[in-house]
Amino acid sequence: MKILSIESSCDETAAAVVEDGREVLSSVIASQVEEHKLYGGVVPEIASRRHAESIVGVVSEALSKADTTLDDIDAIAVTHAPGLIGALLVGVNFAKGLSLSTKKPLVPVHHLRSHIAANYISHKELKPPFLCLVVSGGHSHIVMVESYTKMRIIGRTRDDAAGEAFDKAARTMGIPYPGGIMLDKIAENGNDDAFKLPRPKVDDAPYDFSFSGLKTAVINIIHNMEQKGESVPVEDVCASFRKAVVSCLTENFIKAAKDLGVKTLVTAGGVSANSLLRHKLEKACKENDFELYMPQLSLCGDNAAMVGSQGYYEYLSGNIAELDLNAVATLPIDYRE
Ligand code: KG4
Ligand code: ZN
Repeated sequence: MKILSIESSCDETAAAVVEDGREVLSSVIASQVEEHKLYGGVVPEIASRRHAESIVGVVSEALSKADTTLDDIDAIAVTHAPGLIGALLVGVNFAKGLSLSTKKPLVPVHHLRSHIAANYISHKELKPPFLCLVVSGGHSHIVMVESYTKMRIIGRTRDDAAGEAFDKAARTMGIPYPGGIMLDKIAENGNDDAFKLPRPKVDDAPYDFSFSGLKTAVINIIHNMEQKGESVPVEDVCASFRKAVVSCLTENFIKAAKDLGVKTLVTAGGVSANSLLRHKLEKACKENDFELYMPQLSLCGDNAAMVGSQGYYEYLSGNIAELDLNAVATLPIDYRE
């Protein structure tokens, strides 16, 4: 079964053709990052406009790169939630138009579920059940993936997402958006013990995260040094902050796996590209005899191939939308089975 998939939840306009949920026939991404960099973060109005301008070209390119026409496509999958509402609407309306004109089924895909599905492309043997650490710019969750479409939230952030904390700390140090990626690189040359940072825990919720106190602590360190006229050792601050965030993510994730007796661990989302997180999880999983799966780096960030993968399993589970499908800014990952 061939699915044409569309993603426009944030600042990437993407389309792909994916066969049976696992084989990527084409994947095209038009990134807007250079433009948003000028403003230090994603400007929703600009994102919507650029999606509207790019979507026809991106979808056409995905079809031609897969050597396919709309006639060969069996279903159209689209990210409908969660994300920037104006951005999501561009993809959703385009997909609805295609579905109406071609009479092919329309499959709504939850953005975080698609991040998890990136692993089905990278690891052909991977099947639920498994425990997944979903860490992106907007979300940080530990999710029990019971089946391809049945998810149970085990832990979540109480405030900032991990990616958001990385981006905000980076911004305070003058590192351009999206700061998480560059902070990760700069941290490689720093001393990660240079600054003592808190490892916030949430009372009575051992798998939940809280990153806002950690983010404020690092911002205070930077501002205090600047006010005293001292030069900020950016490499050391990046290394200390990265270590603190990664420790919180790794400790809670491993604890949840041990407590639940799950032996297959998976990561998903933009932050799962973080080199220290990958390294620490590899080590911890080896020590605990857990199997670890992480998406290949090219599939950690937003793309439409992962939407085509999850779209396949949503389709098989009967998740077919009518033409009244709407974009939704906020929707829990366990919204349906
Ligand atoms: O999943 P994603 O591409 O988009 C959302 O759904 O939010 O995640 C983007 C987030 C950004 O906050 C970005 O800074 C972060 O992932 N990110 C990283 C790294 N690569 C991307 N954070 C830390 N280290 C990285 N290597
Ligand atoms: Zn994403």
